[in-house]
Amino acid sequence: MNDDILRLLHVRGDFLSGEEISRQLGISRTAVWKRIGKLKEEGYEIDSVPHKGYRLDPFPRGRIYGWVLEQAFEELDSQLFDRLIFAETLDSTNLEIKRRIAEGELKSGMVAVCEQQTAGRGRRGRAWASPAGSGLWFSLGLNPDIQPAHAPMLTIIAGMAVRDALEALYGLEAGIKWPNDIIVGNRKICGILTEMTMEDLEMSGVVVGIGINVRPAAFPEQLKDIATSIQAETSGDAPDRARLLCQVLSRFEHYYKIFIQTEDLSALHTTYEAHCVNIGRTVRVISPTQEFEAKALGIDDMGGLRLQLEDGTLRTVTSGEVTIRGVMGYGK
Ligand code: BTN
Repeated sequence: MNDDILRLLHVRGDFLSGEEISRQLGISRTAVWKRIGKLKEEGYEIDSVPHKGYRLDPFPRGRIYGWVLEQAFEELDSQLFDRLIFAETLDSTNLEIKRRIAEGELKSGMVAVCEQQTAGRGRRGRAWASPAGSGLWFSLGLNPDIQPAHAPMLTIIAGMAVRDALEALYGLEAGIKWPNDIIVGNRKICGILTEMTMEDLEMSGVVVGIGINVRPAAFPEQLKDIATSIQAETSGDAPDRARLLCQVLSRFEHYYKIFIQTEDLSALHTTYEAHCVNIGRTVRVISPTQEFEAKALGIDDMGGLRLQLEDGTLRTVTSGEVTIRGVMGYGK
């Protein structure tokens, strides 16, 4: 890893001559030139200008730099998250957090981020495509003093946080498809997978994995019509993922503090419902044993979906027992 050159350029924040780099690192100028070429091939955004030298793009869009993340994370000054882990490649950020929990590293809250996942995990055992440069793939490790049955509600909070961040940073009219898919224009832009870790029959942590599609990627064929990304929706530059991460963390912390007071969604369901695209609409409810249509009325304090069936009866379903589809397409 050519981290020493990248660090020099980052610290300099402006052009640094090849001669200066070679002097500071004790290598030849040809070696500097070769290594810069390799870094560019790897996707690092480095300007080379004759007589000035090399400069690292201060607002890298094409890839995540660990130290840019670290700086943004420090500035966030979170009371909940005390640790940030960044790796270029991980099997899955959820698995990384689980390993850290097993090693006893989780205190209040940790965040693991990577550029690409080789075994990204989706809900219901599905894979989650996570190529480099196309998304913000990260997981939160949390240690709340709550009953395990209440942990899935953290997924709802994460969904609210992502929705807020997309609106605040990019002006996107993002909505939530119950329980926690974030959609823009009826296409999915973010998925969330929450898992619990247990030790000696006790909950040892909660992992909230969040995948946000940032740039249009070669989505697998079956996702082409139902997935979108921030860049596709804004037609702008590739989003700054460090900023996006911090905005999500900050909104998550805000909602988490409210949630933890009551350990339920009693103080949050009105806000959630205001952004949930299914509320007031007919949805198709799919369980392993039956399918039916009903009107979605709202959510209860535990995050269950309150439904009114065609015969007028009321019923609440949980995300563990059913999935829903909008009858007008993916979410609506
Ligand atoms: C879904 O199926 O909608 C949930 C997808 C969750 C994907 C994210 S990407 C970061 C984290 N690590 C994983 O392996 N999965 C989650």
